[in-house]
Amino acid sequence: MTASYPALRLRRSRATGWSRALHRETMLTPADLIWPMFVTEGTGVEHPIASLPGVSRWSVDGIVARASEAVDLGIPCIALFPHTQPDRRSEDGAEAINPDNLMCRAIRAVRDECGDRIGILTDVALDPYTAHGQDGLVDDGGYVLNDETVAVLVDQAINQAEAGADIIAPSDMMDGRVKAIRMALEMGGHHNVQIMAYAAKYASAFYGPFRDAVGSSGLLKGDKKSYQMDPANSEEALREVALDIAEGADSVMVKPGLPYLDIVAKVKARFEVPVFAYQVSGEYAMIEAAAAAGAGDRDALVLETLLAFKRAGCTGILTYHAAHAARLLNAGS
Ligand code: PBG
Repeated sequence: MTASYPALRLRRSRATGWSRALHRETMLTPADLIWPMFVTEGTGVEHPIASLPGVSRWSVDGIVARASEAVDLGIPCIALFPHTQPDRRSEDGAEAINPDNLMCRAIRAVRDECGDRIGILTDVALDPYTAHGQDGLVDDGGYVLNDETVAVLVDQAINQAEAGADIIAPSDMMDGRVKAIRMALEMGGHHNVQIMAYAAKYASAFYGPFRDAVGSSGLLKGDKKSYQMDPANSEEALREVALDIAEGADSVMVKPGLPYLDIVAKVKARFEVPVFAYQVSGEYAMIEAAAAAGAGDRDALVLETLLAFKRAGCTGILTYHAAHAARLLNAGS
């Protein structure tokens, strides 16, 4: 009898659970996750966000409770976004630099409760504070001005750092803002405050529910294509990343996440820098909608997508599924 067998049987290593565990190349743990959450005014307030099923805006006390939950779950960092009251929004977004604004109160409250057991990441961009919903200052024609905006973003970043933010995350895509913020942080004595640059942030259709959550969707005039990147481009993403590293970013982010894993992989291959990805609101909503429609198992979809970010080269992932995923992982899924 002549022996006939495939030269290699890759199924051998997949045949049993112990063997799959032994050969696994990528791990997902709660320590990989950053949990974004939305802050609103009041006490004891929870406002569910219709387009983000399962996600609510919380008043500061609720945010503090979620932050403690994150600590218990082993999630190392939260990201805060404010839902600014309409009467606090203005053309120039001045509320962003108010030392007693909602963000600063939330940062201080979380710090008081959790000390250094949790990292607090804060978004730098003016869209939660502007009456027009753009991320910066606009001229008469509606064009978002670069250098004038950077000057305000620097003040916003310092305002957040003084309140106790650990990671400043500029999400505005203005040119030169990382350098300007880094210099101001150094001059202000905030040597250990990190910068995670939204380096490759695309003008994406996946941000819709987020804009509902921060209350800017009804306000936004036009689009953000003159500063956020064209989804068609990847070379440009590498240039953005190179610039932000040169300007002093400690880590970089790619956003959105899943449709842009090729960008994550390219950034990881090219640069020795921690790369994060933001699984954005529209991606979250898509998974929830698929699960609700019976098109997939929610828990499996959540864990598979998050693992895919790790496989592509991410150091960590911002995801609205953070708490749920951490619970699943802690339960041994
Ligand atoms: C603000 C900002 C946005 C997101 C994070 N920071 C919205 C935007 O750029 O319009 C989107 C996050 C999400 O969709 O979950 N500049």
